[in-house]
Amino acid sequence: MEEKISLSKTKSRKKKSLNSENLSSNRSEPIALAQKTNFERIKTGYAEFDRVLGGGLVPGSLVLVGGDPGIGKSTLLLKSATAMAINNDVLYITAEESAHQVRLRWQRTNNREQSNLHLFAETDLDEIIEELNNYQPKIAIIDSIQALNNSELTSASGSVSQVRECSAALQQIAKAKNIALLLVGHVTKEGILAGPKVLEHLVDAVLTFEGDRFGSHRLLRAVKNRFGATNELGVFEMQGEGLIEVTNPSELFLSNESASGVATIVAYEGSRPIAVDLQALINPTTFATPRRTATGVESNRLHQILAVIEKHLGLALSRQDCYLAVAGGLEIDEPAADLGIACAIVSSYKNLKLPQGTILIGEIGLGGQLRAVKQISQRIQEAIRLGFIRAVVPQEVKQKYKYNENKFELLEAENIQEALIKALSIKPNQLNRKS
Ligand code: TYD
Ligand code: MG
Repeated sequence: MEEKISLSKTKSRKKKSLNSENLSSNRSEPIALAQKTNFERIKTGYAEFDRVLGGGLVPGSLVLVGGDPGIGKSTLLLKSATAMAINNDVLYITAEESAHQVRLRWQRTNNREQSNLHLFAETDLDEIIEELNNYQPKIAIIDSIQALNNSELTSASGSVSQVRECSAALQQIAKAKNIALLLVGHVTKEGILAGPKVLEHLVDAVLTFEGDRFGSHRLLRAVKNRFGATNELGVFEMQGEGLIEVTNPSELFLSNESASGVATIVAYEGSRPIAVDLQALINPTTFATPRRTATGVESNRLHQILAVIEKHLGLALSRQDCYLAVAGGLEIDEPAADLGIACAIVSSYKNLKLPQGTILIGEIGLGGQLRAVKQISQRIQEAIRLGFIRAVVPQEVKQKYKYNENKFELLEAENIQEALIKALSIKPNQLNRKS
């Protein structure tokens, strides 16, 4: 260390003499020469967790895992801790549950008798810092940050000042000892609990664990990540014997039902395509203003697509209620889903089923034109992999990509009208006929 410092001093002195007019010492350096640290990411035991972290846990980094109470944060981290403890020193600090409770869960979900994983049931910050200092693990898990207590503060645990002070103290020791720290924080989608919000700038990555508590699957995403992209999605399923990862999420979001109002799209989540079912229900309204609800799709997008359908296809949707939902609680915010949404709506309105094995890809412009979307080739590959047989796509797709036309039919369309006729396999007059 000493040597390095003196070396850099001589360097800057040399520079100064070369550039004698500039007497103030210049301590910045070219970015390419900036200190290189070679680190190897730690595998968490879940490929889906690694994916969201950007390839694994970075040593010495601070990661906040937020989510509703009861969603499965402790289950996820206990399992990962056990996997990481095979090759590393890992300390699991439980501030919410007793050591006995954690041990029971560990036994039930890990099918193991032995592990190097260390467990410490404590809420007092000083005790925790002392243990971190003594044991010096490579990875520490704090479950949860809201349950910690700094006895120097008078406020209750979980208050903003407690959360801020405790995490600042933990960050200091983690950086000093190069401990990767995983903090659990309870937070609702609206960020109602103030605690974790004040932490967001402090930590290197913020992950959220979400999903329908009554459904079985869980989605892990990164909201902030200094070591990777933030658009990756990890998919898990909560089962009786613990949390398992879903490596083939498309199957989870496909209902495999054939009914009117159901359309399938291939959405892009981070670096991978996922096939998802959309469902629409169109019914004559009994209200003064028709009801429009969208789950998993922005309602503005739905209104826009309804307006385009009404204007360009002449369908009288303004006296119809419209309910739209994405299967499995996924949120779709990309325009590539537009054609799927339009097809689901028209299919329900006309009471026509889409032919089996159809995929819809395309953005719809306000003028009714079908626009190209990004990563179309990967979307089509995913559809082929899942056994779909035809896709309605914007123009010029065939020209750019070569497919085996015997196995997979690509139907190009210029506008929404043409796309719907091809998707539903109907005659042009069937679309505009009053139903
Ligand atoms: P938990 O990890 O305690 O949630 P959090 O730490 O986010 O508050 O998980 C709680 C829920 O998960 C609990 O309601 C029961 C369910 N669960 C299972 O269904 N199977 C399991 O094997 C485990 C451990 C939990
Ligand atoms: Mg918990």
